[in-house]
Amino acid sequence: MQVIILENAQQVAQHASRWVVELISQKTNPVLGLATGSTPISLYQKLVKSHQEDQVDFGHVTSFNLDEYHNIDAENEHSYRTFMKNNLFDKINIDQKNTHLPTCNKGENPREQGIAFEDKIRLAGGIDLQILGIGANGHIGFNEPTSSLSSRTRLKTLTKQTLEDNSRLFQPDEYQPTMAMTMGISTILDAQYILLMATGKNKAKAVNEMITGPLSAKCPASALQLHEHAVIILDKAAASEL
Ligand code: GLP
Repeated sequence: MQVIILENAQQVAQHASRWVVELISQKTNPVLGLATGSTPISLYQKLVKSHQEDQVDFGHVTSFNLDEYHNIDAENEHSYRTFMKNNLFDKINIDQKNTHLPTCNKGENPREQGIAFEDKIRLAGGIDLQILGIGANGHIGFNEPTSSLSSRTRLKTLTKQTLEDNSRLFQPDEYQPTMAMTMGISTILDAQYILLMATGKNKAKAVNEMITGPLSAKCPASALQLHEHAVIILDKAAASEL
């Protein structure tokens, strides 16, 4: 695990965006693993800027997102598809046919959907670079504490803490999904490179457990200790308990 500590969140985003731009400039068919949440938003802003100002080309990029709410319309304002369109896909020249999220809607079988998503990743040649954030309870994607370290894409029930953390994005009278499809920990570990970004004091405890704690399903992010090329980029606040 390589740990990089930078001054602030903007520097974290800048550093991460250099990695992404380098990958997509060098590879013929780059495959990106993408994340949602507030942390990667500034990374996506930098990527949009690099497309608009430096003509960075995303036309040959394939992407796979970590997770998507269960049984939510792609057009719903809270779907992760909408998040990705608003923050990245609609602002760069990626072919939206090549952007994939692990969806599971009414009438679909989560097990079959999970297997189909894994097959798509394999067919694309595997993920070259997986972007990750971290939940305050150490989750990655929606792999909540006690998730199996050998898990693959499947349906998960969200914990009370994750629902509370994400409730800021919903109106008090609005339905908030309680389940999500997510890449498994094993799916994430298959990526060739992993880049986890964490910023802010509220992530400091989880970051400490991920890096210095024992490898444990209690902190799903600690599984990154097993990965040969995992880079953790932190701002000072997120690194404050190391
Ligand atoms: C969500 C996502 C994760 C993300 C985490 C932290 O639950 N499924 O992929 O890393 O929240 O989000 P934030 O960056 O908003 O703190």
